[in-house]
Amino acid sequence: MMRSLTKVSVSRPPWGPNSIRYQYDVRTMILALSSWPEIEQRIQICRTVVIPIGSNEQHGPTGLLGTDWLCPEVIAHEAHRLSDTVLVAPTFNIGMAQHHLGFAGTISLRPSTFQAAICDWVESLSRHGFQRIYFLNGHGGNVASIEAAFSEIYSKYSFGALHCPFMLKLRCWWQLPGIGAFADQLFPTGHGSHATPSEIAITQSAYPASIKSAVVTPRVAPNGPIRDAFDYRARFPDGRIGSDPLLASVEKGAQLIAKSADALIRDFDEFTREPFVKCS
Ligand code: NI
Repeated sequence: MMRSLTKVSVSRPPWGPNSIRYQYDVRTMILALSSWPEIEQRIQICRTVVIPIGSNEQHGPTGLLGTDWLCPEVIAHEAHRLSDTVLVAPTFNIGMAQHHLGFAGTISLRPSTFQAAICDWVESLSRHGFQRIYFLNGHGGNVASIEAAFSEIYSKYSFGALHCPFMLKLRCWWQLPGIGAFADQLFPTGHGSHATPSEIAITQSAYPASIKSAVVTPRVAPNGPIRDAFDYRARFPDGRIGSDPLLASVEKGAQLIAKSADALIRDFDEFTREPFVKCS
């Protein structure tokens, strides 16, 4: 873990030399709880930012609709609490969830809308000088669209014969180093791929007042392909895929949050150290 950032102060407001002086600690921050001079100062010492990204969609009879954005947000905010370096942007909390629209409460963007919004988030942050933008994702259904958005963004520079001034990174929280193996250890059977006990455990630990109980039948949900919303509801009547969410617990969630936050800090710092390739 890199802990090389130092506390600095700034006395250079952009509108003139005799204005207000600012003194902030800008090592580890939540963007939404910061002022613009703090972010301007932060960019002078570290140009990396993490964006939790997910989806608002059904997660079976016991899972919260926000599960897929709550998990990366909880992990990123815990990383912020434990780290000397992490800056967390607002959570991008609506994703590509067309196949879940047969269930009440799901909100989805079309893939094209989602990709356009990602491009605008990236261009906004790049305009301020951020050079490394790390998306911590909580929804498997977002992956193809996020990668397509990255390609769309990079292609603008490639076709224009320009050097892209920033790097983009996508990491699903369950693919953080060591987390997949740890989830297998916690849940050797019944993990599945949607409304999983690991993601539900994280929300139970972070929001214990919102824990749901329900009888789920069968205990382990069926598996199958994902197509449109009617097809999904017919194949997976209660919304789960391959999972037994009743295996989740507050304690297991706390362990997953702690390990994932630690892995995120290492990954964030490694990304910050990644050099730009020298171009001629
Ligand atoms: Ni999920």
